[in-house]
Amino acid sequence: MQQNAKAPLLQVVLLSFLSAIGIQYFQQESQRATDVIKVVNDRYRDLLSDAEKNISEANEKMNEMQTQHDKDTVTMRYKLLQQEVKLKSLNSQIVTLQTERLELMNMPTFF
Ligand SMILES: *[C@@H]1O[C@H](CO)[C@@H](O)[C@H](O)[C@H]1NC(C)=O
Repeated sequence: MQQNAKAPLLQVVLLSFLSAIGIQYFQQESQRATDVIKVVNDRYRDLLSDAEKNISEANEKMNEMQTQHDKDTVTMRYKLLQQEVKLKSLNSQIVTLQTERLELMNMPTFF
């Protein structure tokens, strides 16, 4: 009778002990998972900020290149225009010289 009364008590103590171990294990695992999540989150945030910095730098570089390209284009257009003006002037000189030459050839000879 006394033996039977002690058995459930032992069971309760044993179960309490086991669930205490279980709870401790669960808490440790939970803490470990929280730590891992924090590490992953930090890594993600670092990568994200690194990528955003890279994108911003790349955008800046692209803007600089676009600005330089625009400047180069304006310079080249101006030089082309100068060359066209020079060419027109040379062409008109040629026409003038040809006209003079024709006039000279058609001049009656007086001597
Ligand atoms: C940022 O740029 C550096 C240098 O180009 C590169 O090594 C790094 O991997 C880039 N970061 C990301 C997140 O792409």
